[in-house]
Amino acid sequence: MLVFVPPHPLIKHWVSVLRNEETPSPIFKSAMAELGRLLMYEASRDCLPMIAGEIQSPMGVASVEFIDPREPVAVVPILRAGLALAEHASSIFPASKTYHLGISRNEETLQPTVYLNKLPDKFPEGSLVVVVDPMLATGGTIVAALNLIKERGADNKRIKVVSAVAAPPALQKLSEKFPGLHVYAGIIDPTVNDKGFIIPGLGDAGDRSFG
Ligand code: PRP
Repeated sequence: MLVFVPPHPLIKHWVSVLRNEETPSPIFKSAMAELGRLLMYEASRDCLPMIAGEIQSPMGVASVEFIDPREPVAVVPILRAGLALAEHASSIFPASKTYHLGISRNEETLQPTVYLNKLPDKFPEGSLVVVVDPMLATGGTIVAALNLIKERGADNKRIKVVSAVAAPPALQKLSEKFPGLHVYAGIIDPTVNDKGFIIPGLGDAGDRSFG
């Protein structure tokens, strides 16, 4: 498994805005969207199918490359908080389809429950699947999401997880269960407390985004 924390000042900036407990909800949500844009940009770097050709510009013939619209990227935001992180997905992935997954974590048991599943019955062969969830804490939610995605034919090597903050318990589970996966995180924090919150983290990303 590859875990990539892009060493970019803008990523540090938006993570810092998110961490600040005084950041108001609308700013928190737009900071999450900006962080998501940067992380999805990194995730898109080496894996988008292209079509090459020639085109006539006003000044001459140019060799060009476009994103291939015949192979749309599957973007899977994990509701609720993933909606904020995935807000700019369509600008990073001009050819994409969005498949919502609603998963909530029981506050006492920390077990995930899937309450909405809009995944396709089967992903087309070779599909790139980008799973977007701001917090990878105990890892229960992302493992439940990836199990559902894998059941529908996705290949670990073509799945990318985009997250604002990742913690060791989740990364450990992912590396054991999904070798070959690529994870793009804004930052990796050291621990998860007994209530399942990443420390220092950024609090409850869903509540802070949507009130
Ligand atoms: C939070 C977060 C992740 C999950 C991470 O969602 O957005 O989806 O918990 O926790 P885990 O790694 O321990 O499973 P939450 O259940 O609070 O739902 P929300 O996004 O609707 O607030």
